[in-house]
Amino acid sequence: MMFLNRLESFRLVDRSLKVLHIQRSVAHKSIMKRNNKNSVDFKAETLSAKGKGILKMKKDTSKTMEQYIHDYSVFPETLQYRLPTEDELGQPPKPHSNIIKLVFEQGGVESMDLNLNAEKFARYPTTNVIKLNKRSTRPLSVKMLTSDFIDDCLYNVNYGYFAKEAIIFQPDRPFEYNKLQGQDEFMQQWLQAYDKYDQEKLKSLQVLKRSSNSKSKKSTADEKSTTKGDNEIDTERIVKPSLQLWHTPTELFQPYYGEGLARYILQQYKLNEFPYRDLIIYEAGAGNGTLMLNILDFIKKTEPDVYARTKYRIIEISSKLFNKQSSRLQRHKNKVEIINKSVLDWDTPVNEPCFFIALEVFDNLSHDVVRFDIDTKRPYQGYVVIDEHNDFHEYYSPDLEPYTKEFLELREQSKFPMNKLPKHPTNQFYPYMKLKTILNPLRNNLSDPEYIPTRLFKLFKILNRYFPNHQIVASDFNNFDKTIKGYNAPTVQTMYKDNMVNTDSYMVEQGYFDIMFPTNFTTINELYQQVTGKKSHVASHAQFLKEWADYKRTETKSGENPMLDLYSNADFIYS
Ligand SMILES: C[S@@+](CC[C@H](N)C(=O)[O-])C[C@H]1O[C@@H](n2cnc3c(N)ncnc32)[C@H](O)[C@@H]1O
Repeated sequence: MMFLNRLESFRLVDRSLKVLHIQRSVAHKSIMKRNNKNSVDFKAETLSAKGKGILKMKKDTSKTMEQYIHDYSVFPETLQYRLPTEDELGQPPKPHSNIIKLVFEQGGVESMDLNLNAEKFARYPTTNVIKLNKRSTRPLSVKMLTSDFIDDCLYNVNYGYFAKEAIIFQPDRPFEYNKLQGQDEFMQQWLQAYDKYDQEKLKSLQVLKRSSNSKSKKSTADEKSTTKGDNEIDTERIVKPSLQLWHTPTELFQPYYGEGLARYILQQYKLNEFPYRDLIIYEAGAGNGTLMLNILDFIKKTEPDVYARTKYRIIEISSKLFNKQSSRLQRHKNKVEIINKSVLDWDTPVNEPCFFIALEVFDNLSHDVVRFDIDTKRPYQGYVVIDEHNDFHEYYSPDLEPYTKEFLELREQSKFPMNKLPKHPTNQFYPYMKLKTILNPLRNNLSDPEYIPTRLFKLFKILNRYFPNHQIVASDFNNFDKTIKGYNAPTVQTMYKDNMVNTDSYMVEQGYFDIMFPTNFTTINELYQQVTGKKSHVASHAQFLKEWADYKRTETKSGENPMLDLYSNADFIYS
């Protein structure tokens, strides 16, 4: 999901809120300490950081001397805790003449000693997203793959981002584009509708926050509320919650966007399968269920014979959205089945020819992080260690997990091996990379990070294995404006008091932030073909809709066309 660039310009991004980003850092003091086993304090009181709320973070850290002091000036990514290769294990540090590095080593700066890194890494048990999903609280003293950490942040059923107030904007009725003067009027109407929806959702949240104990409030700040009756809404005291309101082209351009997809599907179906087989459509991540309604309405209206033999199946991870979709089925009740599970857990063979739709689903599929030794180009797998103080650290292991290994190997056999990717971290000007390492030995000779779409790779494997006769129709974003640093890096953002706040680390308090990855359609098109053996194509959002949608219906009087002009950072892949 994404807040459009155009819309973002309407938002005030309050940089001073940066402190709320909860970019966990290693404690500055502990960096300067020699990193030995004794430096880790497992005392119960140091666990007070556990479960800290987003707004409490800064306060909590300075209460008493006994409490562990978090230092927010050091980012988790500042130190790369590199683990030794088999050859390096147990060996003394290699001699070198880098004075800065010598000073760091002599000063006992954490992360410089590979063997100590390995010892510390081994001390933390490994967890994964399956185990984490059984927890109701955020974990401490564990390590996990970066992909599991991000997955947990987004999807944990108890504290994950998707389990909380994430709502997809749904306009009351389709916009009447032909009556609008131009794009600006569309933006105005959209923002009004958006605000109205936001307010309505907010009202329902306020009702939930009725003040039942207002009489017991004594402080002057609370005096106003003490005059209220028990059943009144205590609005003065309510801080507007960080309502996560997304909007998607499906919703904004309904029904024309969905009808465009329906037209493509019908044409393909009639070309290849009609009248011998039923039309079967799977949609992963159906949001409010609007696309399903628009597609089925269109088939019913234009091709009743095909409608009679159409089946639509939704695979939806979110229980809340599953309920919403289920509540909107009335007019197509016998046509639709909704399965409440992650598409990544799919294990039922579907051998019939079918269409597989995924709109704005790829961007939230978790990624792994890899850095490369700048001299040997050996890849290192990223892990997140959450220590006993609830601080995050990034470790890099020379042992790759299977999806990362296979992804990197397949890419080398594709049209886009690493050395042909112009902005790839390993292709930076070598003296520049070397200089960065010399000036900052905390990089441990590793490159900038690359984020690897291991979950999307898994999805392609699932499609190949369980949907051998599918045709894919998927769309997503090919780039974002405000990403964290790195190749194929995500944007990490949240709404805070009506402002969109971006952070510069993915290692944030789990569940408070949306973590969205751009999709490089050229490379994933290649990957899709390698994995499934199918021919697929990529088109820009506008190209695809120009071909398949009735785009005259979304044209304004001035000739501007929001459906074609907006989402210029989105592409389609289809097979
Ligand atoms: C941004 S919304 C897009 C909704 C809809 N496709 C649209 O374009 O309006 C992402 C949707 O994907 C769902 N989703 C995310 N990850 C999923 C997964 N692994 N399996 C199934 N659904 C998933 C979310 O719950 C949500 O319904």
